[in-house]
Amino acid sequence: MSRILTGIQSSGTPHLGNVLGAILPAIELSKKNESFLFIADLHALTTVRNKNILKENTLATAAAWLAFGLDTKKNTLYRQSDIPQVTELMWYLNCITPYPMLANAHSFKDKADRLSDVNAGLFTYPVLMAADIILYNADIVPVGKDQLQHLEITRDIATRFNFLFGDTFVIPVASTDKNNLIIPGTDGQKMSKSYNNYINIFESEKVLKKQIMNIVTDSKSLDDPKDPDTCNVFQIYKLIGSQEQIKDLSAKYKNGGFGYGHAKNALLEIIIDKFKKPRSKFHELMNNQEIIETELLKGSEKAKAVADSVLNKVKDNLGLN
Ligand code: TRP
Repeated sequence: MSRILTGIQSSGTPHLGNVLGAILPAIELSKKNESFLFIADLHALTTVRNKNILKENTLATAAAWLAFGLDTKKNTLYRQSDIPQVTELMWYLNCITPYPMLANAHSFKDKADRLSDVNAGLFTYPVLMAADIILYNADIVPVGKDQLQHLEITRDIATRFNFLFGDTFVIPVASTDKNNLIIPGTDGQKMSKSYNNYINIFESEKVLKKQIMNIVTDSKSLDDPKDPDTCNVFQIYKLIGSQEQIKDLSAKYKNGGFGYGHAKNALLEIIIDKFKKPRSKFHELMNNQEIIETELLKGSEKAKAVADSVLNKVKDNLGLN
């Protein structure tokens, strides 16, 4: 059985794009493999400057995964910072990572162009990511396309370490989702927290409705026949509805006499209906945060056992033991 590992950004409560694009596929994958999933709160420190936000984001992210039924008996869900061994390994890796490799990373260059606070944590972000992966002997790392270069860097660093100090690490491979779902946001661009075009399925019905009513459409009148394929509401609906529901809605668009307000209501209804259980589970967990903490603690114990054994080998091979 291969070990799958992935890090989850904790930039807030996961939105519909995260749910459809990351959480549900990863849970599917975790049924057939052993998964290590962690909330990357140390990476979040490169930008988050508020302790309450950092904490809340971590708990909300964990709650979302649990609410969608991740089986934590079989899989390991933990908080990155609960295993400080990862930062120790990062130092060892820093010492063999060529400076130009980091300076040329796309994601660093992007962030350096965009952000006013370009800290060293952003620069060494890929080294921490390499440590995240190889500390746990991961075989397969499911990531979005934007993370592929970071996986290449991880493989380079791990291979270099094995060459310099003897066989120590498993060399992981990246896996990108074949379907490569791009979940459109309310403005039709990729749904993202940073574009503020997201739908948060864990919000109250009132807020959810407001987010859905904000979806951008063209200005056809109620009577006009409409093209579902160019409509943002339909594009989102299509990712959630059953074949029959999709066919049904598509026909209503084409027949005319069906306005965008109706379509938005249909989307609201299907979201509430389809995510009824995870929505209520999420709130139950957020109101009983000790349950989330207990789950994370359980995960960190399992993760720590692997981390200790790999780190011990690393120190042996470096001449530190
Ligand atoms: N950088 C990843 C992202 O932005 C999150 C992440 C951190 C990660 N550590 C990881 C992903 C290790 C995979 C493996 O999505």
